[in-house]
Amino acid sequence: MSTLGIIVAMREELEIVLERLQEPQTLQRAGMDFHRGSYLGKPVVAVVCGVGKVNAAACTQMLISEFAVGSIINIGIAGAVEPSIRPGDIVIADTLVQHDVELKALGLAPGQVFRLDTFDFPADPALLTIAQTAAQQIEGHQVHTGRIVTGDQFIACNDKIQWLSATFNALACEMESGAIAQVCYLNTVPFVCIRSISDNANNEAHMDFDTFLPIAVNNASTLLHAMVPSC
Ligand code: ADE
Repeated sequence: MSTLGIIVAMREELEIVLERLQEPQTLQRAGMDFHRGSYLGKPVVAVVCGVGKVNAAACTQMLISEFAVGSIINIGIAGAVEPSIRPGDIVIADTLVQHDVELKALGLAPGQVFRLDTFDFPADPALLTIAQTAAQQIEGHQVHTGRIVTGDQFIACNDKIQWLSATFNALACEMESGAIAQVCYLNTVPFVCIRSISDNANNEAHMDFDTFLPIAVNNASTLLHAMVPSC
């Protein structure tokens, strides 16, 4: 059975997984704790990568090269970009783009990585279906599938969310999954990202964030629990 890598950005997001991890063993690499064990009978390595793209990329390559994971799930929180999406809702990424990649002077569209044969990074179709099925277990919140955009910025600005929407047709924004997706793409490792919305990425984002963080964390953990047996 292949090992599943589970990446989160913040410690709060991994607590529920760690509570249920059987025969846990922790190894430190690149300043991160990689928790190896069995989760619902599936071999997993679960790790808090920290916030931002560099942390996320380093962590992902470590999971692939050192821990030989066969697939990767990223769960966590995101800011809403699409106006109809509310805090507490779930967004499952079908494609991912790094919104802060900008080589306009060289004629490239925003988000296009230099000399890469793709504009966006698709989620693995099988993992996407598993995520969508698992999401049916979430009660009281909407589940959306679409593009998530990533950048090394906490977005708290109406103009910026309008730009993200117009430029990328994004549903949500956050700070890791586009980098994870690119590393998975380069290594041909199946990947999916599921985010629970913690804020509207607008001028009140910091206030929503504090209120909705526990709800979002709980939703993401519920989803992961429902997904792992099928992964
Ligand atoms: N993660 C959660 N909310 C976010 C926001 N508003 N911007 C970037 N990442 C986020």
